[in-house]
Amino acid sequence: MTAHWKNTVFDTWGIKGDLTRLDGEYDLNFLVTSETDTILKVMRPRCNADFVEMQCLAIQHIRTAVLDIAVPGVVATLSGDLFSQVTDEDGQQRMVWLLDKAEGHNYACFRPQTTCLAQQLGSILAKMDKALVDFKHDGLNRDFKWNLMQGDWIANETHAVTEPARRELLDRILQKFQQIKPTLADLPQTAIHNDVNDYNILVSGTLTEAPKVTGVIDFGDMCAAPRICDLAIAGAYLVLDHAQPESMLTTLVAAYHTEYALTSAEVDLVWPLLQMRLAVSLVNSVQMAIKNPDDPYVVISQAPAWRFLENHLINKAQIGSNLRAACGLPVVDNAERILNWLHSERGNFSAIIDQDLSAIPMGSCSVESSTNPANPFHITSQEATTIGAEHNANDPFWIGYYGEPRLLYTEKFFRLGPWKASDRRTVHIGCDIFGVAGTPVYAPLNAVVEFAGYRQENLDYGGLIMLSHATPVGDRFYTLYGHLSKTSVEKLTVGQPIAKGEAFTTFGGLDENGGWSPHVHFQLALAIDGMAEDWPGAVAPEQLYFWTRICPNPASLLNLPDEKILFQPVNRDKTLDARQQLFGRNLKLSYAEPIMLLRGWKHHLFDEWGRPYLDAYNNVPHVGHAHPRIQAVAADQLKRMNSNTRYLHPSQSAFAEKLLSKMPDKLSVCFFVNSGSEANELALRLARAHTGGKDMVTPNHGYHGNTTGAIDISAYKFNAKGGIGQPDWVHLIEVADEYRGSYRREDPNRAEKYAALTDRALSSIEKRDGKLAGFIAETFPSVGGQIIPPKGYLPSVYQRIRAAGGVCIAEEVQTGLGRLGDYYFGFEQQAVVPDIVVLGKPIGNGHPIGVLVTTREIADSFAEGPEYFSTFGGSNLSCRIGKEVLDIVDEEGLMENARVMGGKLLKGLHDLQTDFELIGDVRGYGLFIGVDLVNDRNTREAGTQIADYVKNRMRDHRILIGSEGPADNILKIRPPLTIDDDGVDMILQVMRVVLNEATVLR
Ligand SMILES: Cc1ncc(COP(=O)(O)O)c(C=O)c1O
Repeated sequence: MTAHWKNTVFDTWGIKGDLTRLDGEYDLNFLVTSETDTILKVMRPRCNADFVEMQCLAIQHIRTAVLDIAVPGVVATLSGDLFSQVTDEDGQQRMVWLLDKAEGHNYACFRPQTTCLAQQLGSILAKMDKALVDFKHDGLNRDFKWNLMQGDWIANETHAVTEPARRELLDRILQKFQQIKPTLADLPQTAIHNDVNDYNILVSGTLTEAPKVTGVIDFGDMCAAPRICDLAIAGAYLVLDHAQPESMLTTLVAAYHTEYALTSAEVDLVWPLLQMRLAVSLVNSVQMAIKNPDDPYVVISQAPAWRFLENHLINKAQIGSNLRAACGLPVVDNAERILNWLHSERGNFSAIIDQDLSAIPMGSCSVESSTNPANPFHITSQEATTIGAEHNANDPFWIGYYGEPRLLYTEKFFRLGPWKASDRRTVHIGCDIFGVAGTPVYAPLNAVVEFAGYRQENLDYGGLIMLSHATPVGDRFYTLYGHLSKTSVEKLTVGQPIAKGEAFTTFGGLDENGGWSPHVHFQLALAIDGMAEDWPGAVAPEQLYFWTRICPNPASLLNLPDEKILFQPVNRDKTLDARQQLFGRNLKLSYAEPIMLLRGWKHHLFDEWGRPYLDAYNNVPHVGHAHPRIQAVAADQLKRMNSNTRYLHPSQSAFAEKLLSKMPDKLSVCFFVNSGSEANELALRLARAHTGGKDMVTPNHGYHGNTTGAIDISAYKFNAKGGIGQPDWVHLIEVADEYRGSYRREDPNRAEKYAALTDRALSSIEKRDGKLAGFIAETFPSVGGQIIPPKGYLPSVYQRIRAAGGVCIAEEVQTGLGRLGDYYFGFEQQAVVPDIVVLGKPIGNGHPIGVLVTTREIADSFAEGPEYFSTFGGSNLSCRIGKEVLDIVDEEGLMENARVMGGKLLKGLHDLQTDFELIGDVRGYGLFIGVDLVNDRNTREAGTQIADYVKNRMRDHRILIGSEGPADNILKIRPPLTIDDDGVDMILQVMRVVLNEATVLR
């Protein structure tokens, strides 16, 4: 058959190509591979020529009107026609036409399905619809099942759906459709594509190029209908099985509106029409399933639509106003009039409490200015009752901001996803007036009680009242008052009028207001559909624009200027500008879109909007960010004094004794410094003082710090672009990387073979008449790619180095202090006792501490030289913090937690490796983990772009990880040791999603 159509392509278009059959329900479709690929469409026998003509002309029409549109063109035949009629092998007449082939995958199979794609699609669709406004064709007026205006044909067919709940759902959709039908009928009808479903949208993207809509295809369902039907149909497919359907839909509609402005009335139709399209599609496939009972695909294809219609991811009562807001249209028709009236009446409303609010100070509870609660995942009763204690030292009255991001809302119902680091509702969209329990509250204007109730849950609203108001022209709006006294609320009944200035409630006490410091939460709303009685008082930062349209700044009702109560958060862009101006270019920021982080707790961090991030990258906060014991010990010591090692202080020996208790006996002398770099610098001096040599042997790709000496021994830096190059006294040996190196896991002698490479380095010292000082290695090379050398490697290297007169330095900056779970130090895993151990980063949990531990002999050799002194190294503060960190690791069982959580993470990563070809290797101990990503498992070609993609997408999902290795293809996972099941599960689940995307994109 293919040969026949191959000849047709040649005879009709003069194209010599190879044909591959593609899917098609009624017609034959072929991919024609030649110089430029095309798609041959062979219509079903007896297909009307008008039908093909309509599509060809419409495509041409669009492409003429919009030059850069992603609609593949029609290839004219040799005789200049858009299509032709030919005879097939059975002697039947068939219409044939040829289309350019658009690059890309079906949207349905493409990942990630981003809002950026929704935005592009909205824009393309709008351009298409605009272009088609003056397209006329007799074939457009079609009565058929996919004409959404006639979608209520399903009313007689819903009986085919067996589940009663689903039938009811369809009936509700149909009822709504009946209500909008007259509006729909009044709208102009123009040519529309009418089937922009997820298989008719083509998308391309790579690991480095953002996804792009490359084509909208298949005009076979075109008809004349209101343009809004086209948009609703596209929306119906973008929302399916998407984690953020609302964002996809609002983005699509807003982008369409930007290109081809919609009216509010049209926007209101999107949601009911979208549901209607899904309903039609479902009833159609239920019918097909009855006709084709053996085709399981028909049933499977219904599932996403049912899932969507039956789920609660979209607030159905609010989606209309959400779509309006996204388009910049008023959320309710009279919004502007109400706001203008409120502004014009500012100053004339009754004061809501017996105080001059303009004289009361503002107080912030924002992420940036408040540390209440200490744990942003759990506010204690004590903390809730003392909110703003710092603001009310003299006077209990103060005002809390509107639009302020806060970490106060810690209960689970503020979370918008399953994880601790999921989005959550942080931004306050009311205004709080703090004061004393019993303070009377007066109605700012005439009102009717819309709701009065009591929420008894801890940290809920307590006594709650909603009033409805009307402007002189009858526009309705609402105010809400929360945290009130129970008795005052119980006195009110729904429908009861309240006069302007009437005291209708009082501030509740702690036992009746949800347990908060006494205040009234005051909020304005222009619409209350879908908000229930207890309106959200705090919303997600991503939804702030919408919510501030529904619940605008209520300052006018308080007779205050808007600016007084509007919170102005610290500006990330300004901070970035300042950073670029004030610092050097090589002071790098992580991520193309840098993050500003203002708070932390254990293994989570929070940005200026209170958005949480799971910190799976930072090993410095070893016992967790903002550990209360570290806070306490630091504050305590700073209250006392902070001085240096020239004076006696018990904290110095206490820290040293604790640290040495973890070390082999031979390592008995400590030197305290301020960083890993300084400790390594000192290690070089000690090694040289002890041996009289200068030369050092060290593995390639190592990193030991940013000082001159440390850079000299850090191949990762001196060999980097613009680096200073390898000093003649530094001798590199290959990293003992058993996945990528010269000797791999399958070689039982690999440890010895890697160790033997030391001999070559030692002879090169001899050759240059140098003298060996020592060997330094990160016990598990980290920037080299989270490498775990084979057991037996270091014993053999140490033996060679010692035989040559050198000392052995174990750099444990990354690996020490229990991170490895099974071992307190990495050298224990290698069963060696080093001569010098260098510690840094985690030992101060963020406070700058470095430590060198060595033998008495080496310390004595060093003591032959001049006095050793470090101004800040070993300060009382540092020693107390260092000791506290070590105590916390022990007392909180963090090494064991690293073992258990690390084990779980490694197991999960190995499972991912089974499922994803692009994971070449997973390795690690405890919470020191590397995932080597590859373009090809056989060649082990480094997947540098994959790693970059994964790291950035993990960040989009609020997980911080890093990448390392000479080719920067190894994911580095090393969270604070506090990580828990929630964190580990989140990493694994999100990584699965992201690896799926990377698999599609590469
Ligand atoms: C293995 C290793 N050694 C030393 C250092 C230097 O430590 P610091 O930056 O505290 O000087 C680092 C820092 O990243 C490191 O990773």
